[in-house]
Amino acid sequence: MAMAKPSRPIEFLVIFGATGDLAARMLLPSLYFLDADGLLPPELKVIGVARTVMDRQTYVARTKSRLEERPEGVDDNVWARFSARLDYFPADAGKPQGLEALGARLAGAPAIYYLALSPSLYGATCTALSTAGLACGDCRIVIEKPIGHDLESSRAINAEVASAFDERRVFRVDHYLGKETVQNLIALRFANILFEPLWNNLAVDHVQITIAETDGVGERWGYYDEYGALRDMVQNHMLQLLCLVAMEPPADAGADSVRDEKVKVLKSLRRCTTGSAHQMSVRGQYKGGVVDGKSVPAYTEEKGGPSEVETFVALRAEIDNWRWAGVPFFMRTGKRLPERRTQIVIQFKPLPHSIFGARAQEDLIANRLVIDLQPKEDISLLLMNRRPGIAGTRLQAMPLSLSLDDGGRRRIAYERLLLDVLADNPALFVRRDEVELAWAWIDCVAETWSDLGIAPKPYAAGSWGPPGAFALLERSGRTWLDE
Ligand code: BG6
Repeated sequence: MAMAKPSRPIEFLVIFGATGDLAARMLLPSLYFLDADGLLPPELKVIGVARTVMDRQTYVARTKSRLEERPEGVDDNVWARFSARLDYFPADAGKPQGLEALGARLAGAPAIYYLALSPSLYGATCTALSTAGLACGDCRIVIEKPIGHDLESSRAINAEVASAFDERRVFRVDHYLGKETVQNLIALRFANILFEPLWNNLAVDHVQITIAETDGVGERWGYYDEYGALRDMVQNHMLQLLCLVAMEPPADAGADSVRDEKVKVLKSLRRCTTGSAHQMSVRGQYKGGVVDGKSVPAYTEEKGGPSEVETFVALRAEIDNWRWAGVPFFMRTGKRLPERRTQIVIQFKPLPHSIFGARAQEDLIANRLVIDLQPKEDISLLLMNRRPGIAGTRLQAMPLSLSLDDGGRRRIAYERLLLDVLADNPALFVRRDEVELAWAWIDCVAETWSDLGIAPKPYAAGSWGPPGAFALLERSGRTWLDE
């Protein structure tokens, strides 16, 4: 029997777009912190590639000054080790001719290529890497959202990437999957027996997923105005969170087992139609208002142009399968909301019958599991308890909290993801079929909005979105849990 050829360890991490924001704010700091913790392979070199012509020394100095802007500061010993790994090559990623010097440096060793570039360059970069002979069998490629603007464009990008790298070597980042509490959600569900018997339509009334931001769109207006909240946040981060809550227990924690289960959820999502669009979706766009005590301008005033793009979206999703039939999943996300909060709430059903008297009855609140992803990291279960005292029975709600804040440095989500790419573990990355199924669902919503002429409704910056966002829940006698 032929033995499988052992893979050579990765020697190079090449960051295309090395002078951009993602590299400076997320990737290089993450690598620095991993190095500080002794988690990077000793032989790993980090090579920056971008069009700007500069020498290695300048790139190293620039990286250091960006790291120094962070509250953690830079440790001299760690920096000495980390900077020795750094190198820089000026090149146009989309042109094979520019990649010769890089090819000579790699000398046939396997590399990870991180495309911190505009998705419009993914195809050309993969083709250039392949033409330059740099897409070897052990090489891996990392790409980020947005992979396309709709299903069709996403398929085109995925096909171009696939012509140079087979799917097993493609790592599609959704940085939410690198967040600590997201991984804790998986542990909570599958390392405890308590929740599974209740994790279904017999005990769960509904689920709420909120990603609220106080920031406006600001400098990212050009990008954002092409995408809007539906494509920027729901297609990826929110649907990933929904999948992790709703999926069946996978056979194991392996990448394909988990991703197969997420795919089943995406296939079960009920499609939006012209008949249901008004009942299941709300679009909003912020006007001027006050956030964190400061006056802020309207979305359209940030760049001074009229726009029909939503900066807020709320949706009622239905998962048509045995586990979740009849349990709505409410999602909302927006810019310029009153607070920064990413939270998942599993709202359980009320008691079928209360044995307590009328006064205690008023105190009863249905159990609720709240998973806070940011800014605080916490999982808490709201339970009813008896109020202390001898004068009759009164009840009170008590949160049972598994606070995840150990006082240590909070890791950047990219640290975990970069470590997983180095370890060749794709479990926390998004497979091609997941991306495409998510787009198919999003396209239905976007197309019905356009067919019905549903335009974003205004909301004041600093509020929780347009009134329709409240009506979305109130129609079924529910409310957003805002406290
Ligand atoms: C990005 C979106 O993917 O996620 C941004 O493009 C958004 O618009 C950001 O602000 C939110 O990420 P986080 O980790 O700050 O919640």
